[in-house]
Amino acid sequence: MNLSWCYLSAATPAFDVGRLDELYRSAREFNAARQISGVLLYGHGRFCQMIEGPEAGMREVIARVHDSALHADLLTLHQEPVAVPAFASWSLGTASDWRGQRTSSAGSTLDTLTPAQQAACRVLQHFIDWEDAGATQDFTPIRY
Ligand SMILES: Cc1cc2nc3c(=O)[nH]c(=O)nc-3n(C[C@H](O)[C@H](O)[C@H](O)COP(=O)(O)O)c2cc1C
Repeated sequence: MNLSWCYLSAATPAFDVGRLDELYRSAREFNAARQISGVLLYGHGRFCQMIEGPEAGMREVIARVHDSALHADLLTLHQEPVAVPAFASWSLGTASDWRGQRTSSAGSTLDTLTPAQQAACRVLQHFIDWEDAGATQDFTPIRY
């Protein structure tokens, strides 16, 4: 059984955007060792992440994410068992991985996902659109 988790959070002053690559690197290393895959988006002081994988490893990662002082105000959008991870090939994909995937896939892969995974994909897309539009208002997830 895989666990899927998607949340939003706000960066704290302890987070330095110049160290975002370092965050991706250490998270990927930890995730890859546990067959965990997912996407992490950052923009304008906000994070949006979906991660998925075998339950035991996921419990460890969820605890690490909750414990990090780099963000606060975590809002879980879903946490549920899934059969098929949405982004199995990414230990932690970025916004540019996401953009590439959206233009290369015909959308049929969405059919194999649960309603919560599909909703999370819409939120991730909405997050990117919000950032592209200059983030003039605070981010609020679309109907989930
Ligand atoms: C937005 C965000 C996403 C994270 N995602 C992951 C992750 O996917 N896998 C992981 O092992 N750790 C993840 N972490 C935790 C970091 O790898 C690291 O353990 C943590 O940022 C250390 O934080 P601290 O220095 O504030 O204690 C994440 C942290 C943040 C802030």
